[in-house]
Amino acid sequence: MDFAGKTVIVIGGTSGINRGIAEAFAATGAKLAVASRSQDKVDDTVAALKAAGAAEAIGAAFDVRDPDAVAAGLARFHDAFGDFDVLISGAAGNFPALAAEMSVNAFKSVIDIDLMGTIHVMKGAYPFLKRPGASIINISAPQSWLPYEGQAHVCAAKAGVDQITRTLAMEWGPEGIRVNSVVPGFIEGTEGAKRLTPTKEAEELFRSDVPLGRWGKPQDVANACLFLGSDLAGYISGILLSVDGGLYQRGSGRAGQMIGQMLRSAKGKEG
Ligand code: NAP
Ligand code: COA
Repeated sequence: MDFAGKTVIVIGGTSGINRGIAEAFAATGAKLAVASRSQDKVDDTVAALKAAGAAEAIGAAFDVRDPDAVAAGLARFHDAFGDFDVLISGAAGNFPALAAEMSVNAFKSVIDIDLMGTIHVMKGAYPFLKRPGASIINISAPQSWLPYEGQAHVCAAKAGVDQITRTLAMEWGPEGIRVNSVVPGFIEGTEGAKRLTPTKEAEELFRSDVPLGRWGKPQDVANACLFLGSDLAGYISGILLSVDGGLYQRGSGRAGQMIGQMLRSAKGKEG
């Protein structure tokens, strides 16, 4: 893969899976721009991207829930680098909570970050996308189509993200813009995985549901993004590409109930 001379934007690219994606593009010589809420995380990532081989790396701190801040941040990236070849939108929030027990604002906070954040990023980037040729990749999750207890907020938000992917693939396809989702399975060492599988037992249960028998790595997800961002995927748009070791084939299975069971059991202990 050679992205030398290309501009790659990664929103939510300062930790975990998305940072792994940004680093993989950096290693191919791309110009990278990353954004998230924390200026410290942005600065740390920009330094790491330069060390990984990025032709140039810049960053900005903004919250994807604020459409004006998103648009202004993306405009600064465009001023610095020109039209975007690859745009990755992956900012997200998650915590385990049963629907009956989480506040309305808790549910809304995940909808605001994952779903509204995605449309803010899509709309903010739209004027700056390379035509023809831009590739947009939204980072989804298995919760988009598999129900998991304790994840109603995330299931609703990510299902919406994937429908944005499919709809914008239709709306923007005539301009030569491709829009796809990458759907990671459970990826080791990440914040998202830690929040959902806080114990060794839970980790093992999730792993045992993966036909390939192992957790994923950030590089597995990055590889799919390199492909979708490249000309090799030039006729692929509107797909939801799972990078999950085959997890989808088994449905959410026992793992689909486990988060709910943990939450109910913790509540029982509290009395
Ligand atoms: P993570 O390390 O917590 O990454 C989330 C990123 O989004 C961080 O850079 C965070 O930085 C940023 N972010 C969060 N809220 C934001 C906001 N309101 N505005 C702007 N940026 C924000 O999580 P991860 O586990 O690697 O997950 C990354 C992506 O993969 C997410 O889309 C997640 O849904 C998806 N995914 C993860 C897994 C998994 O196993 N971990 C599985 C399937 C899908 P700041 O804190 O600086 O804002
Ligand atoms: N269980 C139930 N409700 C929770 C919760 C939990 N574990 N964590 C937060 N909430 C609720 C809060 O109580 C609040 O609701 P309230 O106003 O009715 O009290 C609401 O969610 C928003 O919380 P707040 O801490 O104000 O939001 P924030 O904007 O500072 O942070 C989060 C957003 C909650 C999603 C936070 O976890 C976050 O920043 N996550 C990013 C990292 C991440 O989740 N990574 C994994 C990605 S898959």
